[in-house]
Amino acid sequence: MDGAGELTADRIRALIGSAMEARKKSYSPYSHYQVGAALLCADGRIVTGCNIENAAYTPTNCAERTAFFKAVSEGVTAFWAIAVVGSPEGNVLTQYAFPCGVCRQVMLEFCDPDRFRVITAKSVDDYRIMTLRDLMPEGFGPDNLEGKV
Ligand code: THU
Repeated sequence: MDGAGELTADRIRALIGSAMEARKKSYSPYSHYQVGAALLCADGRIVTGCNIENAAYTPTNCAERTAFFKAVSEGVTAFWAIAVVGSPEGNVLTQYAFPCGVCRQVMLEFCDPDRFRVITAKSVDDYRIMTLRDLMPEGFGPDNLEGKV
């Protein structure tokens, strides 16, 4: 990872801070579990998302997918990393929230699993970083359909 994608300590802090801001927009009247995400695009821009729930439950969209779909719908399809913060309603982050399986699958569609980093945080100074490969070993992705695996 280089250039805009280099995960410096400052960039990690900025990403987590953006995810924390996005979490404030969480629409989660049913689960009362608030999630925010901040996606670092290859062009350096940060696209955020929050979870958006629905009275019919299944239309609920996770914060990570909100960020990905916002970015892709604006023409951005190359990404370096995502920061995720999730915890029960309130200002305190009480846990490291890792992306659900569906969000991991969406990440695999657009990201190189060995390079894309997932950051989950309790604060800007307290976080864990994993590759998408760590979270999604032996996943099924575009390479399967293109005959590359
Ligand atoms: N949620 C996310 O936003 N991201 C995840 O990766 C896991 C779950 C949301 C969906 C729902 O609004 C709430 O958290 C509880 O599942």
